[in-house]
Amino acid sequence: MSEPSSLPGPHARRERQRAFWREAYSADPVFFGEGESDFARWCLPILRAEPRVRTVVDLGCGYGRDTRFLSAGGFQVRGVDLSGFASSRAPGPDVPCEIVEADCLGFLERLPSGSLDAVYSNMFYNMDFSEAEHRALWVAVHRALRAGGLHLYSVRSTADPWYGRGRGIAPDIFEPPARGVPMHYFSEEYIRRLAAGRFEGVARVERREGEEEFPISLWYVAERNLGAAPTSAGPVRRGRRRPGR
Ligand SMILES: C[S@@+](CC[C@H](N)C(=O)[O-])C[C@H]1O[C@@H](n2cnc3c(N)ncnc32)[C@H](O)[C@@H]1O
Repeated sequence: MSEPSSLPGPHARRERQRAFWREAYSADPVFFGEGESDFARWCLPILRAEPRVRTVVDLGCGYGRDTRFLSAGGFQVRGVDLSGFASSRAPGPDVPCEIVEADCLGFLERLPSGSLDAVYSNMFYNMDFSEAEHRALWVAVHRALRAGGLHLYSVRSTADPWYGRGRGIAPDIFEPPARGVPMHYFSEEYIRRLAAGRFEGVARVERREGEEEFPISLWYVAERNLGAAPTSAGPVRRGRRRPGR
């Protein structure tokens, strides 16, 4: 799919994200609340049902609320975020997890293949990534996970009351009318398209969250890494070779 022209370049968008979230977390160090997210609580039994899951990466971890929750749940967790905010509030020795200040795609691409048991993220993929950038992230997650590893994520859905509000800057991406960063809303079809050939569904539910004045709608997704990557070569043709080839 071609990149829509009104979406600024990746560097400009990344810097805008960094500045926005630094400011948000400086103004309110518990911007999303003190405790872990509802989605992290939904994921815990899924992770615990898998005896082999030890290593987890939390993409776009913010100030690390879910990183700490999953670490306290017994997993070896690394949180990654652009803002660098959580690293200045690194958890104490009682909750052994690591926070890395980095762009998530670059971080994933530097990991050895098959080195993770699970990749987790809460409301990260619905930042203003284009479809091409989402595809690159899915390829990187698929490569970094071992075969059978879990990909768990929540994203704002196209049924969200905020969908369509503000300026449309690309398909399903809207710049909010007041303060904020653009949001990419996911349809069920988009979730399937991104997973195709790399992940199979484990669980998927659509949930309402938020208080009266800020209701939002999210997809909770759990999918399993199928292992071998799809080939772009198409179906294998069987038959005789043409003479002379
Ligand atoms: C909606 S917040 C969610 C924070 C956290 N998952 C939580 O639930 O508390 C999205 C986060 O993604 C981070 N982010 C945005 N783009 C990023 C990128 N390319 N690489 C790493 N982090 C990014 C932002 O800094 C922000 O903390």
